[in-house]
Amino acid sequence: HMEIYRADVMGFCYGVKRAMKIAEKAAKDGVKAVTYGPIIHNPQVVGRLAEAGVPAVNELDEVKDEIVIIRSHGVGPSCYNTLKCKNLALMDATCPYVKRNQEITRQLVADGKQVVLIGEKKHPEMKSVAEWAVGHSYMVETMEDVDALPPMQEAHIVIQTTFSVALADRLITAIKQKVPVVHVNKSICDATMQRQQAARELARKVDVMIVIGGCNSANTGRLAEVCRSEGAVTHHIETAEELKPEWFRSQDKIGITAGASTPDWIIEEVVGIMENMKEMLDQEEMNLDVHKG
Ligand code: F3S
Repeated sequence: HMEIYRADVMGFCYGVKRAMKIAEKAAKDGVKAVTYGPIIHNPQVVGRLAEAGVPAVNELDEVKDEIVIIRSHGVGPSCYNTLKCKNLALMDATCPYVKRNQEITRQLVADGKQVVLIGEKKHPEMKSVAEWAVGHSYMVETMEDVDALPPMQEAHIVIQTTFSVALADRLITAIKQKVPVVHVNKSICDATMQRQQAARELARKVDVMIVIGGCNSANTGRLAEVCRSEGAVTHHIETAEELKPEWFRSQDKIGITAGASTPDWIIEEVVGIMENMKEMLDQEEMNLDVHKG
């Protein structure tokens, strides 16, 4: 029989729940509001919110008189300044853990310290954090980036909240070989660590892992990486429609996990379809047994 297991911890994290509450309340109250960038990295959620009256804008130039909701990934000081200059109201849904990274970085740079940011260069959180360092930081995403660091005596490390725990450890070890004094802010958030840990444990037990979440979601991508590194055949999907019956065999153990920006309704849809597929496969198996008999 095919068996389906859920990761112990998955789906919406604290920061995403908080951001969604702010945006959904604005929609419910009929407040004229927009989100600056997609509120979270999940196209289905962003679509629903737009239908409810709170669309996303990509540029502040597009805002007329709407209230601007800052998304969970945060923004740099230039955005706050622009909003002030334009006299626009804002609701700040920046995740408090991202805020903490921004504040630590800002303070370190103000104190004249050398800051090394570990994270994805293109990720909005890291772009926002780097902006708070006003050009006084180095961004490290790969081993090559560590090689390219200029000589320095001392470095303060700040890590993207949704980065891979394992990769961060490897990069820090490499930095320590180059820089004599290294201070590490352990800033990968608990939600990220718990989801990666739960995904790892489950991936070890099963044959196939289904990882649900936005294709543009960094933390979901990391979960898929973790599952692959444990040897499970891993499929990263955004919605239930992407599930393919040929991925599964009747004797497989299947694990399910989801990123911090994946809503419960998408997870439940996937689980529902998986249950149907399981029933079909079990039925086929029974028919085969009958024939054999
Ligand atoms: Fe915040 Fe961590 Fe979620 S930084 S948005 S609680 S993944």
